[in-house]
Amino acid sequence: MEIKIKKAPLKKRKAKPADESQLGFGKIFTDHFFNIKYKEGRGWHDAIIEPYRPLQLDPTAMCLHYGQEIFEGLKAYRGKNGEIYLFRPAENIKRMAASAERMCMPPMDEEIFLNALKKLVILEQDWIPRGAGTSMYIRPTMIATEPALGVHSASEYLFFIVVGPVGAYYPQGFSPTKMYVSEEYVRATRGGTGNIKAAINYASSLYASRIATKMGYTQVLWLDALEKKYIEEVGTSNIFFVIGDELITPPLAGTILPGVTRDSVIKLAGYLGTKVMERPISIQEVISASENGSLKEAFASGTAAIVSPVGQLYFRNKEYLINGGQTGPLAEKLYNEILQIQYGLKEDPFGWRIKIRDGGKAKKG
Ligand code: COI
Repeated sequence: MEIKIKKAPLKKRKAKPADESQLGFGKIFTDHFFNIKYKEGRGWHDAIIEPYRPLQLDPTAMCLHYGQEIFEGLKAYRGKNGEIYLFRPAENIKRMAASAERMCMPPMDEEIFLNALKKLVILEQDWIPRGAGTSMYIRPTMIATEPALGVHSASEYLFFIVVGPVGAYYPQGFSPTKMYVSEEYVRATRGGTGNIKAAINYASSLYASRIATKMGYTQVLWLDALEKKYIEEVGTSNIFFVIGDELITPPLAGTILPGVTRDSVIKLAGYLGTKVMERPISIQEVISASENGSLKEAFASGTAAIVSPVGQLYFRNKEYLINGGQTGPLAEKLYNEILQIQYGLKEDPFGWRIKIRDGGKAKKG
């Protein structure tokens, strides 16, 4: 399918951020976005990259009432000679298809999806920042647009992609975060939607996050819904612990998000010689390991947060420092290795990065 491109007039284009150290996360968006419509019986149609604008939705658009909304997150990186890379986009495309299936939404055509990603990033390439640790965040999203109030899966959808320059996800950058272990609230339960990227998972996490933030913590560390015993994931990311000489992360058993960065960390850590275990890990095991000195490090992984060290846990009115509250050596190594692969600065033994533009003089959009 052809993607129509309608460019914004030059005089209507926004000024690009002057100070890349102040980008933050998810606050700035570019001049264009991609969108495509779906209607039952007609399929996906009218693919277009057009000037960025508010969406027009009927007040009864079903996403606004019954929450059929799924999304993805990936990034584009600028190499040192101006090359542009995507990191494992096929994984996001696959995961979005799984999210769509679970939410009774139509799968996005894989070829159109990849083509739209490449075309939009290339068109907006001047927006990809240059500073260390910066990139262009890409947010593919699908919403139900059929105007109807009966509870059923919608017959009309909109899929769109917006992009924007980002820096570190957490305001403090690559430095240790503090996690609040919630025993009162849960993120997901077996048979629910915890293993897909649905907006509902994030909405229902906000209340516990607010409690954590009020108490001075960065995010919530979620436990399993059934026994409140096993660790699931943290805030918007997956979680890893170094106990003794093993790197441990909870298994993909249906309630946690199958993170692309999680998978990259597992493969990369194994490749670099660390023993990696995907197995259930209880909060009690982590607390005991902290008390007996075998808990060496903890870190979170995610597209937005990359690898983010955890320096402290709060559990049952007690604080547990991890690695003296400092970034651990494995978190630092994995953070650097992953970034170097993403920016094309290092050999990519897994074939993860896709070059979508060669280095050299930048083309004008
Ligand atoms: C990501 O890491 O891409 C996420 O989606 C996390 C969050 C910003 C929702």
